[in-house]
Amino acid sequence: MKSTIPLPHALESVKLKVLIRIFQQEDLPGVTRLDRNVGGKDRTKYYERKLQHLSNKDQIRTSLVAEVDGNLVGFLMGYIYYGEYGIPENSASIDTILVHPEFRGRTIGEQLLRTFVSQMRALGVDRIYTLVDWSDTGLSGFFAKCGFRPSPKMNLELDVREASENSNLEMVSEYL
Ligand SMILES: CC(C)(COP(=O)(O)OP(=O)(O)OC[C@H]1O[C@@H](n2cnc3c(N)ncnc32)[C@H](O)[C@@H]1OP(=O)(O)O)[C@@H](O)C(=O)NCCC(=O)NCCS
Repeated sequence: MKSTIPLPHALESVKLKVLIRIFQQEDLPGVTRLDRNVGGKDRTKYYERKLQHLSNKDQIRTSLVAEVDGNLVGFLMGYIYYGEYGIPENSASIDTILVHPEFRGRTIGEQLLRTFVSQMRALGVDRIYTLVDWSDTGLSGFFAKCGFRPSPKMNLELDVREASENSNLEMVSEYL
């Protein structure tokens, strides 16, 4: 089983040999471990669900991992939106991108993203979407550096518990 390792200080200035490759089923433990190390929560079930498509041979594999010396140090989970009859539509999304804290600032995130973008381009995708929390200036700064811009579409949400006390919505429900 592959593990994530801290980068020895002596290696910090050395150019890393990074391998970017397609995500395989066997990468799941390494990915959940990296996610847990960074976020502090075990999200194995979440990743298992998200990566169910890996067992479907007809589905194009779009997620990627980054390895240094055989150790998983980053990953990108991306999807293509499937249209009718399983034919890819022309848009894709990035669900998660994560680089081991000890390996950040060494272009690994950018290499993951560039590889994903060129894969998507080759598949005829012309737009890639991702959602970033307003307060996460680090992640939005990274995406901005990599060419992402705010979308003209608005992401709307409704607090369902508050909405049940909202008289306008109750009025609408009378007509349903
Ligand atoms: C965002 C992240 C993927 C960047 O990976 P990385 O390997 O450190 O990034 P890179 O070294 O490839 O940086 C690429 C460019 O983005 C910029 N960048 C990276 N992190 C940045 C930050 N926090 N703020 C602003 N710019 C940033 C770099 O300066 C670089 O630009 P440059 O070439 O002009 O110097 C990494 O910091 C990370 O994993 N953060 C946590 C993300 C997270 O919470 N994911 C879970 C939810 S999706």
